[in-house]
Amino acid sequence: MDFTLTEEHKMIRDAARDFAQTELLPAVIERDETQTFPSEQIKKLGELGFLGMMVDPKYGGAGMDTISYVLAMEEISKVDASTSVIMSVNNSLVCWGIETFGTEEQKQKYLVPLAKGDIIGAFCLSEPEAGSDATSQSTTAIDKGDHYLLNGTKNWITNGSTASVYLVIAQTDVEKGHKGINAFIVEKGVDGFVVGPKENKLGIRGSDTHSLMFTDVKVPKENRIGEDGFGFTFAMKTLSGGRIGIASQALGIASGAYELALKYSKERKAFGKEINQHQIIAFKLADMATEIEAARLLCLKSAWLKDNGKNYDTLGAMAKVFSSETAMKTTVEAVQIHGGYGFVKEFHVERLMRDAKITQIYEGTSEIQRIVISRSVLRD
Ligand code: CAA
Repeated sequence: MDFTLTEEHKMIRDAARDFAQTELLPAVIERDETQTFPSEQIKKLGELGFLGMMVDPKYGGAGMDTISYVLAMEEISKVDASTSVIMSVNNSLVCWGIETFGTEEQKQKYLVPLAKGDIIGAFCLSEPEAGSDATSQSTTAIDKGDHYLLNGTKNWITNGSTASVYLVIAQTDVEKGHKGINAFIVEKGVDGFVVGPKENKLGIRGSDTHSLMFTDVKVPKENRIGEDGFGFTFAMKTLSGGRIGIASQALGIASGAYELALKYSKERKAFGKEINQHQIIAFKLADMATEIEAARLLCLKSAWLKDNGKNYDTLGAMAKVFSSETAMKTTVEAVQIHGGYGFVKEFHVERLMRDAKITQIYEGTSEIQRIVISRSVLRD
């Protein structure tokens, strides 16, 4: 077993770190405060190949592996988790979903601009009454011959107003339950598609989250992904990889907060010495470092499984639940180590603490990950 990163992996990690420091850090507090989407930064991320990292170069992607994606996600998330969620949804859910299951026409038309970062995409599964219980879709798509008629509402959609392409999951045959669900590619601007107001969120405030309303939206037959009834499997398989992305986001939030706390603990003196010379602080730092290392290993192992064509559903869920809980614990401790300074915006850790919470909720709550993991361990 070799845990050494290749030179290429190190280069990608360093490029992401550099990008985060030079392009994201300068205005990250302002974007968080004003809920401003990082348009310029996303454009530059696309130019670096970070919006279609794992996509085959013949479809405009960077042709990198999932390990590279984990490394880049960690670095970007250390500084700006709003940018990294936009990056994660585009890479793991939208690009991966179309590249793996789409037709050649769908890839040429949608994947190429998505992978190049010319446009971004959104993944639309959650509904007002269907979050964790994803089979209970109320959005319907009725087969009308050469097209489907789409009706319903989707909630909590990342890239809700900024996306140009939406992967929408809908029920096509209620009688068939989850086997009567399909996934469709819907373009922005079609008649009957309305983007609702922006959510005012606790964290990841630079990303735009909206509800979407579909009223008699005509979706051409050729925009269905996969065979009839494939939609639920499509959503589950896509989310399995998405969980590696969000686990890496949580890892980055945790390691970003840890690095700030470590630095502060060397600068701040109390009772005549650096605060890290007090065992109460040193032990906090030791626990943070240990848990972050364990989270990183889970993220990298699940990525390695994916890159090697092995099943990563359970490891991805383990990575997601462990990394997101580590992000929450670590950021709370980072604020504590900073004392009063941790409670103000200039020191960044309060934002990381607010950003950490969503990683326990989206792309499957911690409870959902435990369902996935427990079913797997009980089955084996
Ligand atoms: N791969 C392939 N198929 C899968 C699968 C997977 N990973 N997981 C489940 N399936 C299949 C099952 O085999 C089953 O098929 P069969 O009946 O043919 O055997 C079918 O799907 C139904 O599976 P279950 O009986 O296990 O379904 P369930 O109702 O018990 O739910 C669940 C399973 C794991 C709880 C699932 O509903 C789930 O993951 N829920 C969470 C949804 C979620 O993550 N939402 C996040 C929204 S997206 C988002 O947040 C993006 C963003 O903007 C950041």
